[in-house]
Amino acid sequence: MDSFEWNKVMGGVLGSVLLILVLRVGSEVLFEVEEPAKPGYEVEGVEEAAGAGGPAAPAVEKAPDWGTVLASASVDNGKTIAGRCAQCHDISKGGVNKIGPELYGVVGRPRASNPGFSYSSAMKAKEGNWTLDDLFHFLKSPASYVPGTKMSFAGIRGEKDRIDLIAYLRTESDSPVPIPAPLPAAAPEAAPAAAPAAGAAPAGEAAPKTPGQ
Ligand code: HEC
Repeated sequence: MDSFEWNKVMGGVLGSVLLILVLRVGSEVLFEVEEPAKPGYEVEGVEEAAGAGGPAAPAVEKAPDWGTVLASASVDNGKTIAGRCAQCHDISKGGVNKIGPELYGVVGRPRASNPGFSYSSAMKAKEGNWTLDDLFHFLKSPASYVPGTKMSFAGIRGEKDRIDLIAYLRTESDSPVPIPAPLPAAAPEAAPAAAPAAGAAPAGEAAPKTPGQ
């Protein structure tokens, strides 16, 4: 063996030693698992809802009397609020689907009904139409109202802003849903004994929901 061949041999040995070292260091880096500081993951909006309103926070907020509030709602303010949706939604007539489905005429339309949009299974499983009440609850905290929705938006907490926004969404339609009749002026809770005289709903105290809405 001349020195040239020795060089080759030594080179080969050195090469494999290096390779082994590199592989070992590499695998240590690869398989070192860091413990997460906080296990699990957070869903935006859910925590917020739980923290804000005291013990009964996740309970469904009472929907407004649309027959009264829509008349005085500010569609202009609603349009401004809708700017927060624009990143993901086209609300104009003939609009396109973006990250979220187009929303022209969404008030009153069946949920998850845009054939060109791929909804989450959570949204598809939620049947029924987008009533004024539903939108009111959904837009407060989408992830609480439709757990598993892929609309990653924390929600709009302010009641007035939400009402204005829904008033605006309602006008963005070829045939806006009719404004329901205002609830009877006498608050049902004020006189529980006298209330059944109205005769509308024998179901008891939970009655004051606008039928068909
Ligand atoms: C970050 C993007 C994003 C923002 C911001 C956003 N959305 Fe959405 N929205 C989505 C996605 C995605 C869906 C589909 C949800 C699913 O399939 O679970 C959706 C679904 C909806 C639906 C149901 C539509 C249907 O056809 O059933 C309504 C209503 C809605 N959004 C209203 C709003 C409004 C109003 C705002 C603004 C206040 C808003 N969204 C802001 C992404 C967004």
